[in-house]
Amino acid sequence: MPNLKTPLHLDMLQKAKKRLSLFPRIKKAIKVLLGREDFYGLEWGDPENVEPLKYVKDHFLLPYINSDSTIIEIGPGGGRWTRYMLHAKQIFAIDFYQPVLDELAKNYNLPNINIIKNNGMDFPNIDNESIDLIFSFGTFVHLDTEIINEYLKNIKPLLKQNSNVIIQYSDKTKPIGYDRIVNSRNNRGFSDNEPEKMRKLILQHGYNIYEEDEKTMWHSSIIRFGL
Ligand SMILES: C[S@@+](CC[C@H](N)C(=O)[O-])C[C@H]1O[C@@H](n2cnc3c(N)ncnc32)[C@H](O)[C@@H]1O
Repeated sequence: MPNLKTPLHLDMLQKAKKRLSLFPRIKKAIKVLLGREDFYGLEWGDPENVEPLKYVKDHFLLPYINSDSTIIEIGPGGGRWTRYMLHAKQIFAIDFYQPVLDELAKNYNLPNINIIKNNGMDFPNIDNESIDLIFSFGTFVHLDTEIINEYLKNIKPLLKQNSNVIIQYSDKTKPIGYDRIVNSRNNRGFSDNEPEKMRKLILQHGYNIYEEDEKTMWHSSIIRFGL
């Protein structure tokens, strides 16, 4: 049985809630008025102005979304990336942790967002051949190979022709990055993965790989693939 527990996200959510509770919420309101948002997830960097993340947003997310797009985001957290998807036709925000989804619902309560709790690797109530884009950042970096494997199996039937799957995953071939992450987070860090392993898994499931980015992030890599 794969290890699904990555409760690290709940700890991080608690910290963010403290940061965002009463007095800080007033500060948040002022920040929002000044155009500087704050929510669970921005502590890892804001794609608006943190350079590698800005590149990810501009290169790996925005070009794949238009008003006809149907999107799945796996592990949306507080909506750090979801907020760039809001102009899509439909967004399925899928997460294993209900408290995280509750936080997302507080931040983004819009008719084109469907918030779905899954079993950590499935896609309940999503039609086959209905999805244009699957995007996941900050989530697969924590997932074990068995879970990634299940996700790759479950993603395939959902995709339309010409769709894209864009996943950021842990890359332990990056020596400084990996060690720093593991040390600085008391060993509660990233999963054991690297480009060769990820590529092999994706090809085993019969996908085509369109693009690989091993340079942008210092602790992880990004892969874009499809049918
Ligand atoms: C570090 S947060 C990243 C959140 C967001 N993507 C971001 O970049 O700000 C990881 C997210 O993955 C979710 N998660 C953890 N394991 C998961 C799984 N097996 N399936 C789906 N979501 C999962 C967590 O609840 C959380 O929302």
